Amino acid sequence: MPELPHDRLPDSTLAFLREGYAFIANRSRRYRSDVFETRLLLQPVTCVRGADAARVFYSDRFQRDGASPAVARRTLFGEGGVQGLDDAPHHHRKQMFMSLMTPAAIDDLADRFATGWRDATTRWSQHEEVVLYDEVARLLCEAVCAWAGVPLPEEEVAQRTDDLVALFHPAGFPHVPYLSARRARRRTDAWIGDLVEQTRGGALQPPAGSALQVVATHRDPAARLLPTEVAAVEVINVLRPTVAITNYIVFAALALHEHPGWRDRLAGGPEEEVEWFVQEVRRTAPFFPAAVARVRHDFDWDGARFPAGRRVLLDLYGTNRHPGLWDDPDRFDPERFATWDGNPFTLIPQGGGDHHTGHRCAGEWVTIRLMQTAVRLLTREMAYTVPHQDLQVSLSRMPARPRSGVVIRDVRPVEARG
Ligand code: HEM
Repeated sequence: MPELPHDRLPDSTLAFLREGYAFIANRSRRYRSDVFETRLLLQPVTCVRGADAARVFYSDRFQRDGASPAVARRTLFGEGGVQGLDDAPHHHRKQMFMSLMTPAAIDDLADRFATGWRDATTRWSQHEEVVLYDEVARLLCEAVCAWAGVPLPEEEVAQRTDDLVALFHPAGFPHVPYLSARRARRRTDAWIGDLVEQTRGGALQPPAGSALQVVATHRDPAARLLPTEVAAVEVINVLRPTVAITNYIVFAALALHEHPGWRDRLAGGPEEEVEWFVQEVRRTAPFFPAAVARVRHDFDWDGARFPAGRRVLLDLYGTNRHPGLWDDPDRFDPERFATWDGNPFTLIPQGGGDHHTGHRCAGEWVTIRLMQTAVRLLTREMAYTVPHQDLQVSLSRMPARPRSGVVIRDVRPVEARG
């Protein structure tokens, strides 16, 4: 078997932090290969990108047990959650999440978010300007807690929102405040763990079918309740990423600002165009750079040997912008989704494959729906200006966001259009 292209440096962790989202694509271009080897955190890692690689990555040749680095488990995911499970235990736990994602439940969450946004528009109109990032994070935190059956007193909203944002923003990289993310993780675990116990003891009665009720009463295949800490991690697996949709909404606001033709078009256009726009924001916006898994048993693929135990990184960002999959991939063009075939391995910002049986994001439909809601509100129910500010997006910051958080000024509610 010919040798795979590989990085010459003994370790490329610093290059990964410096190049961020572009790390894998830069090397794929340099080596003219969608598969290459490198070393990250002193371990050998195989990096792959593209739809064919995604198809293999989401097959049973890979497992998640022991795949994500401890640093990510201590902040981002928490310990014992669905992300690290395989096979039957994974399917059983994943079903618990998917049972929350009914069309009626998604409508309910979107309605709560839109109602909060409409009230906030009036408040924003009384200020000269507001930072959209901070406002949307707070609205999403309030909406998802109410939806999930998690009581959130007014005086706690700011702290809880900050903690949930801290869980995904630092993502455990050394140049960001890792310790504050650990503190946020401990505070949030304790808060939700307590609510799980209150629910089990009967002191709290979250609505039937809400995330807190479902997770607190969920039984594993051996009919045991989840340990309190694991139940807390799973409820937080609903709260945290819903608040993280803030990043996408802010990227959508940035795209509206940079493409005023689309802003006008969406203000009065057909609903399907809102969906194209949202899909194009998800395709282009940097969020999760890569997904990680471990090889179960040795296998060969595409001329490369994948030894058992090897960590493999699938380039999510680079697949969404792969020149072999997307025409003129760096151009922002929502219309490409008018003819997209829906291939589950080409548009993979939230993972690929099947939602129910694989590790693809459980909250993808919620994400799309809340983004559509926000885009409609931004284009049809409010007027605002975007003052001069630093809107740069650094691809070495993971997750990335426009530096200013997108400041908007002179907000006015307008009569709903369309
Ligand atoms: C900001 C929007 C979001 C992004 C970018 C995102 C991204 C992702 C990614 C990349 C994965 C991992 C895929 C893999 O390991 O192969 C994932 C998994 C997951 N996401 Fe999301 N997500 C988002 C929103 C949500 C929401 C709103 C929820 C829940 C309400 C959610 C719940 C989950 C869960 C439970 C998993 C684990 C699935 C599994 O391991 O089977 N996510 N997400």
